[in-house]
Amino acid sequence: MPWTPPVLKTERLYLSGPDDAAQPAFAPDGRDAVAQGLPGLPSNWKIYLREGDEPIGTIGLIGWDRESRLAEVGFILMNIHTRRGYMTEACRAVIDFAFEGMGLEIVEAKSLPNNAASIRVLEKVGMKREGRLQGRLYSKGPLVDLDLFRITREAWSNGRNSR
Ligand SMILES: CC(C)(COP(=O)(O)OP(=O)(O)OC[C@H]1O[C@@H](n2cnc3c(N)ncnc32)[C@H](O)[C@@H]1OP(=O)(O)O)[C@@H](O)C(=O)NCCC(=O)NCCS
Repeated sequence: MPWTPPVLKTERLYLSGPDDAAQPAFAPDGRDAVAQGLPGLPSNWKIYLREGDEPIGTIGLIGWDRESRLAEVGFILMNIHTRRGYMTEACRAVIDFAFEGMGLEIVEAKSLPNNAASIRVLEKVGMKREGRLQGRLYSKGPLVDLDLFRITREAWSNGRNSR
């Protein structure tokens, strides 16, 4: 049985788990989906402006490492909906759930160093850049670097009080 993420609601958004059971990025036994031959796309939640509408993007947690209490957040939004703060709002809700609902200690993210929009979202939700992973991504050409971001439970908890 695939793990079904709970519905998350924010001020403007409705985040719902995939209706397609073939989509989980991680499974209830804690092993990550990729290890089980399932798609590892960060698509645990589809993002809706209104329930029942077409989704405007997806967000998810991948590579859930139970022992280290760590997972990685990833996201994508349709172009026509960008720059309205939606992904910041969605990402905050998912990180809240990661710490509160899943008991994680660390949430990570990776971004291309020149992806200003993605980096800004990560910074706005309280993530800090930890360093550059050299040649970390294969994209049908020379290996490219990725910047690693993360937030710990402690930083999340401190930041929460100042929201
Ligand atoms: C990254 C992405 C999800 C951002 O979503 P979004 O909803 O537009 O982001 P927000 O509206 O919450 O914006 C957050 C911040 O990023 C800034 N930002 C958004 N798009 C930007 C851009 N193209 N260039 C520079 N800054 C940008 C916003 O101005 C805002 O910062 P501010 O509050 O200081 O002004 C979206 O651009 C996207 O889907 N990109 C392609 C997929 C991708 O790169 N995924 C991430 C892989 S790690």
